[in-house]
Amino acid sequence: MNTVEFIDFSTFYGQKAVLRNINMKFTANSITAIIGPSGCGKTTLLRSINRTAELENGFNSRGDIRVLGQSINEYRNVSILRRRVGMVYQVPVALPLSIMENVLFGPKYYGVKNRSELEAITEKCLRRVALWDEVKDRLKRPASQLSGGQKQRLAIARALAVEPQLLLLDEPCSSLDPASTGMIEDLLTQLAEEITIIIVTHNLFQAKRISHETAFILEGRLIEKAPTNKLFESPEKPETQGFVSGLFG
Ligand SMILES: Nc1ncnc2c1ncn2[C@@H]1O[C@H](COP(=O)(O)OP(=O)(O)O)[C@@H](O)[C@H]1O
Ligand SMILES: [Mg+2]
Repeated sequence: MNTVEFIDFSTFYGQKAVLRNINMKFTANSITAIIGPSGCGKTTLLRSINRTAELENGFNSRGDIRVLGQSINEYRNVSILRRRVGMVYQVPVALPLSIMENVLFGPKYYGVKNRSELEAITEKCLRRVALWDEVKDRLKRPASQLSGGQKQRLAIARALAVEPQLLLLDEPCSSLDPASTGMIEDLLTQLAEEITIIIVTHNLFQAKRISHETAFILEGRLIEKAPTNKLFESPEKPETQGFVSGLFG
């Protein structure tokens, strides 16, 4: 089944076209990398899926996106959509709360109150992001004390805590050192066995290392989407060839 499907989807900020007639499907339980030069619309594409792009002034869209078979505009309540679609940003965001409260932010919002259940969610999510052993003795301490790499793993744990079926990550490793980047790549590879992952990355090596498919966007158009090896080694389009060989971007 396709977890996400773009159908003739275009977006605008005021009069300015950003995404242009995107048609693209994402398969379940896989990692898709989105690559393309700065300003081509990658962030807008991700934020369209969970309908946070529409919070921007002047944003409007045409066409449709289907998430788990349902049009994003037909969700009775946008919070139901956002619960299914977790998002992690470029700058690691730790809420000004304890480590544990960061993980539990979503579950509490959605009404989980039972203490042992909350503790179980905390441990499970911190284990899934390989952070449990590092923080289990200081769960009540402020999350602000964590390193950048730890904060980013915590942000992923917070996203996972409401059990999304889809995880969107917007250049999640761009501010991290190689060791933290490696940990995040490993955990994304594991998570893809259970959920669908779409990751925007400016690091072509990262796309090659972890993604099953790669989509190349240029000036708001989908130029090519293919299995990652194919896209990098024998792309169909000259624009893709130019980008992956470092001619521009
Ligand atoms: N809130 C906004 N208002 C107006 N223009 C925007 C806004 N956000 C992004 N843009 C414009 O949309 C285009 C795509 O931006 P973005 O999706 O952030 O690209 P990318 O993530 O690939 O760098 C850029 O030209 C950017 O300037
Ligand atoms: Mg961006």
